[in-house]
Amino acid sequence: MRRILVINGPNLNMLGTRQPEIYGSETLADIEAACREKAVALQMEIEFFQSNIEGEIVTVIQRARGTFDAIVINPAAYSHTSVAILDALLACDMPVVEVHLSNIHKRDEFRHFSYVSKAASGVICGFGKQGYLLALEALASFFK
Ligand code: DQA
Repeated sequence: MRRILVINGPNLNMLGTRQPEIYGSETLADIEAACREKAVALQMEIEFFQSNIEGEIVTVIQRARGTFDAIVINPAAYSHTSVAILDALLACDMPVVEVHLSNIHKRDEFRHFSYVSKAASGVICGFGKQGYLLALEALASFFK
């Protein structure tokens, strides 16, 4: 069974009440439940993680090596700022799928660039919760 680490960055713990006109009304727990259901269907094991702290995200990525087969990450605001998370992903030596709930290219200019994309096999944005499920499906076919 493939093991997938799903990482969520800052403020994603506020989903449900945070700018629902942009991010929808579902909570991170709802997204986790949908990911768990999809993982069972795809015969994957997932671990779901959220942190508001950049260094914690770096540490979790470092520890993934040897334990997980792939990473799905919504780095949230750190996408646009974090060379540290990019470097951790470049060193982790496994496929990385970057996910954003919103279409970052339709939004503020500073959201158009993501450092993390430089380490990603693929990027999915604009499909809300569905983006996480598409990322798991992409990895399932990648490992076939
Ligand atoms: C986000 C987009 C980022 O620009 C923003 O800072 C977030 C969430 C998304 O999922 O659409 O916190 O990553």
